[in-house]
Amino acid sequence: MDNNYPNRPNGSPQRPPRNDSPQRPRKRISKELARKRQIIALCVISLIVLIIVIVIAKACSKDKDDSSSSNSKVNTTVTTIVTNTSGPEMTAPLTTTTVVTTFNPDSSGFKLDKYTILLDIGQTDLALVQEYPDGSSEEDERWSSSDDKIATVDAYGHITGVSAGECYITLQSAADPEQEVQIKVKVADPNGSIEQTSEKKEDTTESPQQLAEAPAPPIHDDIKGLTYKEGILLANKTYSMPEDFNPGLEPICEEYFKKLTEDAKKEGLDIYLGSGYRSYKDQVLVYNSYVETDGKEKADTYSARPGYSEHQTGLVIDVNTINDAFGETKEAAWLAEHAHEYGFIIRYPKGKENITGYKYEPWHIRYVGSKVATDIYERGISLEEYLNVDSKYPD
Ligand code: DAL
Ligand code: ZN
Repeated sequence: MDNNYPNRPNGSPQRPPRNDSPQRPRKRISKELARKRQIIALCVISLIVLIIVIVIAKACSKDKDDSSSSNSKVNTTVTTIVTNTSGPEMTAPLTTTTVVTTFNPDSSGFKLDKYTILLDIGQTDLALVQEYPDGSSEEDERWSSSDDKIATVDAYGHITGVSAGECYITLQSAADPEQEVQIKVKVADPNGSIEQTSEKKEDTTESPQQLAEAPAPPIHDDIKGLTYKEGILLANKTYSMPEDFNPGLEPICEEYFKKLTEDAKKEGLDIYLGSGYRSYKDQVLVYNSYVETDGKEKADTYSARPGYSEHQTGLVIDVNTINDAFGETKEAAWLAEHAHEYGFIIRYPKGKENITGYKYEPWHIRYVGSKVATDIYERGISLEEYLNVDSKYPD
């Protein structure tokens, strides 16, 4: 092999004569080298071309994203708010930049009965879809919230206030994702700021043991049409409430739920209000929409008829996301073990469907006070068994 290469005197490289037969092997090697170089050059060029193509493709897709988020349906303005603070430690003005997005409903194929919803914390409402875009139908509805911490929305468009603030609920068509409509949601805190006073903040340092005295819930003995047993307001398929019974979320329920969420947080768990108080009218909307989706028989296994929902008692909270997947979370496991310490029970336990009348709902907790809740927890029974009552619709 080596002898294919001519000897070169040190420091005096010589170009070999061309077409000289003894030099032919060297010329063949040069061609091979040249071919290798050509191949390498081709590879390098191809690589560069590929990189350029990728860069151009990325730039195009960014343009597309940008244009779809700033299409004619949405006008975005940027507002800068300068706030002067009077506190001694804050001398510089605080500048906040807020992006305000205005949706133009006329540009969407969806037509809703309303585009703005005002909610209290825990209250649920929905915007009814009156028209669908061409080629889309009810099955194509895809609902999402811009901020689950302010308002959640389920697969059927039920929107629930979680904390004070504003966010957007978007309805998109799965058949044509270009088709979407937005609902502006404002959630008000009926008790003012969600932040508690410093006096109440001190309570949050209590350990679960010190909370063992979550008091019994209030009794509305001035309201006709309510049924109490052992101080517990009955609300199931047998016992209804009058349409005008509107207690709102009971303060005792809210207070002990707050303690519960704070103690869960200390354990690294995120438990928050998903759905709380629902009036008779709220329940009409919720129940009817489930009936429309699943039929009456199936809806009756998981949604109460208006007047029969425990949510109307103001003593119930659905936590986090209202779906079966919640049952698999660490939060659900903690809730099942500790809710009674704060006066709550898992109202519709697994295996008790024929007694409670409803499928297992690991997220639905009912405030009954810690004495009753602990008894029910320790005995592993439902509220119907504890009070020895039925849960069956009259018809
Ligand atoms: N999901 C419960 C049964 C209700 O609708 O009140
Ligand atoms: Zn519930």
